[in-house]
Amino acid sequence: MKAVRVLPGAEGGRLAVQDIPTPQPGPGEVLVRVRASGINYGEIKYMREHRTGAPMTAGVEFAGEVAGVGEDVSGWREGDRVMGHGRGCHAQYVVAAPLALMPVPPEVSWADAAAFPNVFITAHDALVSNGELKAGETVFINGASGGVGMAAVMAASALGARVIASSRSAAKLERLAGYGVDVGVNASCEAQVEAIMAATDGRGVDVIIDTIGGTVFEDHIKSLAVKGRLVNLARLGGASMARLDLNLLWHNRLKLIGATFRTRTEAERLACVQACARDLMPFFREGKLRLPIDRTFPMDAIGEAYAYIERSQHMGKIVLIAD
Ligand SMILES: NC(=O)c1ccc[n+]([C@@H]2O[C@H](COP(=O)([O-])OP(=O)(O)OC[C@H]3O[C@@H](n4cnc5c(N)ncnc54)[C@H](OP(=O)(O)O)[C@@H]3O)[C@@H](O)[C@H]2O)c1
Repeated sequence: MKAVRVLPGAEGGRLAVQDIPTPQPGPGEVLVRVRASGINYGEIKYMREHRTGAPMTAGVEFAGEVAGVGEDVSGWREGDRVMGHGRGCHAQYVVAAPLALMPVPPEVSWADAAAFPNVFITAHDALVSNGELKAGETVFINGASGGVGMAAVMAASALGARVIASSRSAAKLERLAGYGVDVGVNASCEAQVEAIMAATDGRGVDVIIDTIGGTVFEDHIKSLAVKGRLVNLARLGGASMARLDLNLLWHNRLKLIGATFRTRTEAERLACVQACARDLMPFFREGKLRLPIDRTFPMDAIGEAYAYIERSQHMGKIVLIAD
């Protein structure tokens, strides 16, 4: 089968589309014929850091049909339309755990389904499991035009929260209004703390979903309400220049939480998929959680797709079509 491989190198990993053996499902595993796989910013970083070790197949999410089931698998059978979270997903076939799969309704396209798992599982875990967001609370989401940011906006809005969101682009903010953003903050020209305080009558927000970190971290601490929760998912704006005002942390009884899949056990990862499916699949089935597909690329153009994501001109998801 064809697969996008990351080959290790002293200067950082590099991409190659190669023919490799098709995997076979072992006991408790499901084989999926991949039709489309979502591309995520994190895998670009991962590729760069792959300096030693064995070649790996890239990609953490997919959509396609079940092509075979191993022993002791119940709940899935050949031909089922599924989407899922896993490893080695930019390939024509992938093997996954049954609990990593979610059903795809017949009317949903492969590209739309492939765009769902990683960002919505991440957003749900950040908002609900870590951020303890409740209906009626207010959340601030930065980097809101990206995959994770948009998923967080749409999920928070579907769950009944009020959403304040930022982007560095006025045009992207305008489009975001149609996806559940109640108040937009232009990160390139507006002062974040003032904008958030004005939008919350000086109270601050209950939850912040942060993918930018360093440059705006200090503002985040000042933007949280009493008992506010900040969930950091990434540090696109830098990891080392964040300053923490311990007086505010203490006085406002804040919770600062880091979340990543890198240090989760397999059981923890599968629990996140199941929690997301439980809370968000009803909205997905109603058509409420469809991220815009900014562009699709054929598997052979994976390098072009990564370069496109790094230019940050996109809005929503970039999807690889498995041929
Ligand atoms: N912790 C986890 O569990 C987890 C899971 C999934 C992803 N992630 C991480 O989350 C981050 C976002 O992923 P994604 O797939 O949503 O990426 P993405 O689609 O590229 O979106 C990121 C958005 O952030 C903004 N941005 C990018 N660089 C920036 C910078 N230097 N300063 C300020 N804003 C910047 C851009 O929005 P504007 O142009 O609109 O400003 C961009 O659209 C990645 O670092 C990824 O590794 C973490």
